[in-house]
Amino acid sequence: MDSRNDKCWCGSGLKYKKCHMSLDEKIREYELKGHIVPERFNIKTAKDIEGIKISAKVNTGILDFLEGKIIAGMSTEDIDKLVYNYTIEHDAIPAPLNYEGFPKSCCTSINNEVCHGIPSEKVILKDGDIINVDISTIKNGYFSDASRMFMVGNVSDEARKLVEFTKECLEKGIEQVKPWGHIGDIGAAIKEHADEHGYSVVTMFGGHGIGNEFHEEPFVSHVGRRDTGMLMVPGMVFTIEPMINIGKANVYVDKENGWTSYTRDGSLSAQWEHQILVTEDGYELISW
Ligand code: MF3
Ligand code: CO
Repeated sequence: MDSRNDKCWCGSGLKYKKCHMSLDEKIREYELKGHIVPERFNIKTAKDIEGIKISAKVNTGILDFLEGKIIAGMSTEDIDKLVYNYTIEHDAIPAPLNYEGFPKSCCTSINNEVCHGIPSEKVILKDGDIINVDISTIKNGYFSDASRMFMVGNVSDEARKLVEFTKECLEKGIEQVKPWGHIGDIGAAIKEHADEHGYSVVTMFGGHGIGNEFHEEPFVSHVGRRDTGMLMVPGMVFTIEPMINIGKANVYVDKENGWTSYTRDGSLSAQWEHQILVTEDGYELISW
């Protein structure tokens, strides 16, 4: 039990009653009413948030560095090298490298690949491809994660529309982020938007808490239901990273490499990802 006059658990140096006490009490009230609430670990301290932002700055720097460099004729291994070198030069570590056996520094997912594509010198980009590059970084022990789509040369109208629409879905999800709302609101907004326009939302993967570890609570479904799931509380940091398919939502995972996931019907898939901090009055995009 935290005492009012003790120092706050967050390390601010302030007395508990002057720091996190009222927030903790409010969370407890919600919990008693039956809501799923975050653990203290998932409510980031000021120091954590500072560290996560520094990590995210490197992570965003990598994505910006890639803009204009993703062209037909290069391999996804070439992309991986750019990512690895940039990361190391910025005194950081690529989070995917050796993560649960993942062999490379980023994920590169082309066309009908939904996510977790493994960079390879055998995979050569060609005119008309759409590719998601998913970048995650560890800096001073803090984790960041974001991804963007890149269009290679002349892309079909259908593919371009999917890429743009998927970004819209991410934005619809982000608009839902506010303290004392629920994580399910995010996926509900994304799913409604996709349904309205005849696209499907992948259910097998979701966003995730992140900061002190790569994947933390909560799981952020992109097909959630309003007013369900974990309560959003100031200080929480998580990703929203919808994967949207032109065809059906079904996906399967490559049996040989155990990672790459594809649309079952072979249709195109796109994904955009941001990392978000819940603030006192809304949200802040960390991956900017
Ligand atoms: N960036 C991916 C995510 O959003 C990382 C997947 S794990 C990896 O969670 F090992 F493939 F990188
Ligand atoms: Co992620």
